[in-house]
Amino acid sequence: MSLTTPASVRVRAPGKINVFLEVGDVQDDGYHELATAFQAVSLYEEMIATPADDFAMSVSAKGPVDIEGVPTDDRNLAIRAARLLARTAGVDRGAHFAIRKAVPVAGGMGGGSADAAAALVACDALWGLGMPTSELAHLAAQLGADVPFALLGGTAVGTGRGDELSPALARGRFDWVLVTNEVGMSTPVVYGELDAHRERHAVDIGPARRVPAVDPDVLHALRQGDAGMLAATLRNDLQAPALHLRPDLARVLERGESSGALAGLVSGSGPTLAFLAADESSAIDLQVTLSAAGHVALHVHGPVPGARVV
Ligand code: C5P
Repeated sequence: MSLTTPASVRVRAPGKINVFLEVGDVQDDGYHELATAFQAVSLYEEMIATPADDFAMSVSAKGPVDIEGVPTDDRNLAIRAARLLARTAGVDRGAHFAIRKAVPVAGGMGGGSADAAAALVACDALWGLGMPTSELAHLAAQLGADVPFALLGGTAVGTGRGDELSPALARGRFDWVLVTNEVGMSTPVVYGELDAHRERHAVDIGPARRVPAVDPDVLHALRQGDAGMLAATLRNDLQAPALHLRPDLARVLERGESSGALAGLVSGSGPTLAFLAADESSAIDLQVTLSAAGHVALHVHGPVPGARVV
C-alpha cells in the first residue's frame, strides 16, 4: 500500500452554535436567506474511515447521545458526502466509516453536517486526493447549508443559505454549557413555524423585504473575546418558533439564566440550549447546578478548528 492510501484515517469534526442568526425571506430554492455568526465548539464527532470497495457505516454514541433513528445507509449525509467526492474526483473506491457521535442528533448543533464534513476530509486523505480546501468547501455546500462551516470551523459569518462563509476574527475562548434534550427537532418544521408566524403577522411586518445582516456588535464582542458583550448581543430568529413548538424549553432557558449564565439561547433550530458563561469556572458551576436539577448539561468551549485528520 502506498503512502497516499493509509490503512485508516481518523477525523474529528466539531458541532456549532449560531451566536447570531437572522432569518430573511424564503428564496426560490426553498431555503431562507440568512445572516449568521457561527462558533465551532469542543463537542466533536469522531470518524474512523477504512478503505473498502463499497460504502457503509456504523454509528456509536459518545456520551448521552441518542443514536436511535440515525440512518446508516445512503440517507446518511456522510455516505452522500463520500459518494459525491468519489464522483467528483473520478474515484472508483469506497470507504467504511465508524462514527462516534458526541453532537446531539437533530439537536440544532450541526451534528449530521459535521459527519458529512468529516467524510469529505477522511475520504480525501484515504484516497490520497489532496483536494484543495476550496473544492471540498464547494462540495460541502451541495450537501447542506451547515456543512461548509463544519469543514472550516473557528468563527465565521455565513450568508446566503448560511453556506457562504467569511472567517471572522475571534480572540480568547468562550465557555458554554449545553443542555441537550432527548426529543430532537426537525429543522424544516422550525423554519415552517417561523414562516407561519410571519404570515399570521404579515400586516404588522409590512411588505418591506428583509435583508438579514449580522449585528456589528456581535463581531466586535467576538473580536474582543468579551463574553459579557457577546451575551448582550446573542440572537436567534429560530428561537421563538422553536419555543412555540416546544414550550418546555422556555423553562429550562429561564433556569439556566437564573443559575449564573450570562445569557442563554436556542442553538440553531433547537432543541439544544446554549448558555454562555463568564469564564471556565462559572461554566463548571453552571454545569453542576443544571446537572443536579436533572438536565443533561455539557461544558464546552469555542472556537475550535473545523474537520481535520487527527
Ligand atoms: O441544508 P440543510 O439540509 O441543513 O437544511 C435543512 C432544512 O432547513 C432545509 O430543507 C430548509 O427547510 C431549512 N433551511 C432553510 N433555510 C436555510 C437553511 C435551512 O429554510 N438557510
